[in-house]
Amino acid sequence: MEDTPLLTPYKMGQLNLAHRIVHAPVSRFRSYGSMPQPHNLLYYAQRATPGALLIAEASAVSYAALGRSNDDAANGPIHRQRPGPPGFLFGTNLTDYNSATDGVKATESGVNDRNNLSKWWFMSRLNESGNAGGAEESHYTLPSSLDAPGLWNQEQIEAWRPIVDAVHAKGALFFCQIWHNGRVFSTDNPVTPQVSYFGNTDDLAPAAPQRLETGEIVQIVEDFRVAARNAIKAVLRFDEGFNGVEIHAANGHLLHQFMKASVNDRTDEYGGSVENRCRITVDAMSAVAEEIGADRVGVRLSPFADHCHEEGTDPEEVALHLIGVMNGLGVLYCHVIEPRCVSSSEEHRARRNVPHRLLPFRRAFHGTFIVNGGYDREEGDKAVGDGYADLVSYGRLFLANPDLPERFRQKAALNAYDRSTFYTPDPVVGYTDYPFLE
Ligand SMILES: Cc1cc2nc3c(=O)[nH]c(=O)nc-3n(C[C@H](O)[C@H](O)[C@H](O)COP(=O)(O)O)c2cc1C
Repeated sequence: MEDTPLLTPYKMGQLNLAHRIVHAPVSRFRSYGSMPQPHNLLYYAQRATPGALLIAEASAVSYAALGRSNDDAANGPIHRQRPGPPGFLFGTNLTDYNSATDGVKATESGVNDRNNLSKWWFMSRLNESGNAGGAEESHYTLPSSLDAPGLWNQEQIEAWRPIVDAVHAKGALFFCQIWHNGRVFSTDNPVTPQVSYFGNTDDLAPAAPQRLETGEIVQIVEDFRVAARNAIKAVLRFDEGFNGVEIHAANGHLLHQFMKASVNDRTDEYGGSVENRCRITVDAMSAVAEEIGADRVGVRLSPFADHCHEEGTDPEEVALHLIGVMNGLGVLYCHVIEPRCVSSSEEHRARRNVPHRLLPFRRAFHGTFIVNGGYDREEGDKAVGDGYADLVSYGRLFLANPDLPERFRQKAALNAYDRSTFYTPDPVVGYTDYPFLE
């Protein structure tokens, strides 16, 4: 069987990839109390094959990066929790983590507290992203941001080690996405008005977030640096921990929020001009590159995303500015989400569904260019075959098909993904139980 473009090898910096099919970062909120779990190991190991590139889900650079205040951290000694046997919850002593109510189905919980509303709002936007999204499915589960993994303390490094080891043992390359979610999950941001579960989400808007002090911004940049170092330190048997990190500067999370003039009204050096709005991202990229080497750093962008009602006024300028900086630093890869996957309304979707909209970024960036968003096998082959992208990442298809590259090779049928289990806390169902080819 002749290999199609997606199945041809590729050299990314010093790393040899066996094919062009990448596992996109997909948060599954099954790392209880921010501690990576044994079932996370199984999930990633199932998807690891020789020469494959997997990008692990968004991992918080600090407790505050989960959208929690540091007061919570003082109450919940998250750093003292230890891994337990598979299937056990960590952090039952966390004051604001309730395994009995967090993650319950929205239809049952009634979505009746501020915190959940905030999460629900985030979920709603995510559900609308992508061309397979659909409000017709009415049984989403609310995640707790505390169940996203972290990379800010020693216990988390140790919990990541066996996972990194298992992926490396199967010959795959493993990057970890590092992230500060800003106001998306914030417990401090009431949203108003209250939205009905079945209702339209357009009338749901976050309240004004708390403005970061300059010193806090500097601390956040430092948190990115430390998280990157921690990722590289997640070493067990092999010479290195994660092969690198991906800085999450997309999808309306903190770094992306700064880029947008519609939400960034600062008058200091972090607001105003494109250069200023990009400053925190540039500082984070520079700090991480300095810490672990630019050849281990990828950056994720979604220039056209309007999550959290954040319209970008100058998305091309912003992305091209960042790409210029990335070129100067020698960043390994640039991972960009197609506009069709990030628009929240039908009108915008139609307007933005322009083929090859990312071409100016592809042309401008000197390193490896990864595209994402609504790709299937045929379109992925075309993107690589046309030179539009070096690599194509798959989120929903890869989470539902642990052997996606092999299925593409055989042009086999794909498992359908089950949206209702995207964020449920179950360690097996909808997570590690998607079948392999016979
Ligand atoms: C369940 C789920 C979780 C996601 N979590 C993340 C994440 O942690 N970080 C991120 O950058 N994007 C995240 N995304 C977006 C995906 O990486 C990807 O951009 C999106 O699914 C579109 O690609 P696809 O059409 O191949 O699924 C998530 C998407 C889904 C469906």
